[in-house]
Amino acid sequence: MPHLQVASLKLYYKKDSSVVRAVDGVELAVERGETLGIVGESGCGKSSLASAIFRSFPQNVALFEGSVRLGDVDITRIGEEEFRKDYRWRRIAMVPQSSMNSLDPIYTVGKQMVETIQEHSDMSEREAKELSEGMLREVELPVEVFNRYPFQLSGGQKQRVMIALALILNPELLIADEPTTALDVVVQSKILRLLSRLSSERRMTSIYITHDMGVVSVVASRVAVMYAGRIVEVAPASELFANPLHPYTQS
Ligand SMILES: Nc1ncnc2c1ncn2[C@@H]1O[C@H](COP(=O)(O)OP(=O)(O)OP(=O)(O)O)[C@@H](O)[C@H]1O
Ligand SMILES: [Mg+2]
Repeated sequence: MPHLQVASLKLYYKKDSSVVRAVDGVELAVERGETLGIVGESGCGKSSLASAIFRSFPQNVALFEGSVRLGDVDITRIGEEEFRKDYRWRRIAMVPQSSMNSLDPIYTVGKQMVETIQEHSDMSEREAKELSEGMLREVELPVEVFNRYPFQLSGGQKQRVMIALALILNPELLIADEPTTALDVVVQSKILRLLSRLSSERRMTSIYITHDMGVVSVVASRVAVMYAGRIVEVAPASELFANPLHPYTQS
């Protein structure tokens, strides 16, 4: 049984008097421990698919239907309270698009990490601090970053903090939405290697969203191509390059 199985998933938005079909019948299966890449042109629905799986929606949702199975549980059927308590961040984590700018500027990195842990677990402040410091080491940041404010960090360091925050509760599924797009090429490849290492060490199932085929070939074993709200092609990363079927993939 696949670890994650998405079927007939739709997420539409209301916009003025029309409807935007951002996710329009997605079918997808990811095995446990596998890293799947999702590529597609801007606006094809990649981030919307991520938010549909993570169940974090904007106000103007017009339709959300279909199923998202994690193991044998359809998580679209779980009440919001239970989802918030047991799934979001604990079992499913996300590094959202442009997230390095979403750190709160007025709190230190450490405070934001400790708060995230305490919101979702019964850990004491001291335990949470220890876990945070350990996690900073895992993402290869100096432990002093704990006491720093976001403005004192580089873009790459902030993105490492976001990855540390996503992984801190040891999720089984990680969705990373364009985790390296805003960074320069050298920092990008370091972050990608870091994410690959952490995914395999933790046997995490991972989804990487990107519009960059080069990025995807570094991290993913299989690649799904998204176009106009649907997955139009899924293939091993190597095959997709050698023999692309869909016109979007070819281009
Ligand atoms: N909150 C919203 N309300 C209305 N339309 C939206 C909303 N969010 C996204 N859209 C639209 O839904 C479609 C899919 O957007 P989405 O952000 O999921 O695409 P994407 O593939 O992630 O694009 P990018 O590569 O630029 O990040 C686009 O047409 C977008 O304009
Ligand atoms: Mg996006």
